[in-house]
Amino acid sequence: MAVEKSRRDFIGMAFGAVSAVGGVMALGAMKASWDPLPSVMAAGFTTVDLSSMKDGEFRTEVWRGKPIFILKKDAKMKKNEARDVIIGNENYTVVIGLCTHLGCIPAYLEDTAIFRCACHGGEFDASGIQTFGPPPKPLVIPPFKIDGTKLVLGESGPEYKKLIGKV
Ligand code: FES
Repeated sequence: MAVEKSRRDFIGMAFGAVSAVGGVMALGAMKASWDPLPSVMAAGFTTVDLSSMKDGEFRTEVWRGKPIFILKKDAKMKKNEARDVIIGNENYTVVIGLCTHLGCIPAYLEDTAIFRCACHGGEFDASGIQTFGPPPKPLVIPPFKIDGTKLVLGESGPEYKKLIGKV
């Protein structure tokens, strides 16, 4: 009888232990599936070093699958305190390169320093402000943080918050 009871106790404890381990493993698996993948985490930020850019140079970067236009303003381009990203003594236009009308990607026309959208002829000046056609508002400034000569896209630094407060 006593042997039967201790056998039942043992089976009960073994079953409980297996259940507990299974529960912990299931929780671990659930947490792993909820956490963003490392590639997704990395895709959240894009760091761009602007130190090599020349006056008047335009480049396109990609952040979260969107084109980001970066234009280093030269002496001929009008500065815009409410929209320019200022690093040292240099002014940059940093905007998401998607037209605010219906989302086409405007082209940068170097000779006139404007962005023109081929879809419906919308135009934006060198600061990304709409100047012609159907776009209802300026090109959007993406969240950014300044880290020395680098721009960290995807992080809302104080300079970004200041610009957003002004616009
Ligand atoms: Fe750019 Fe219509 S989508 S003007």
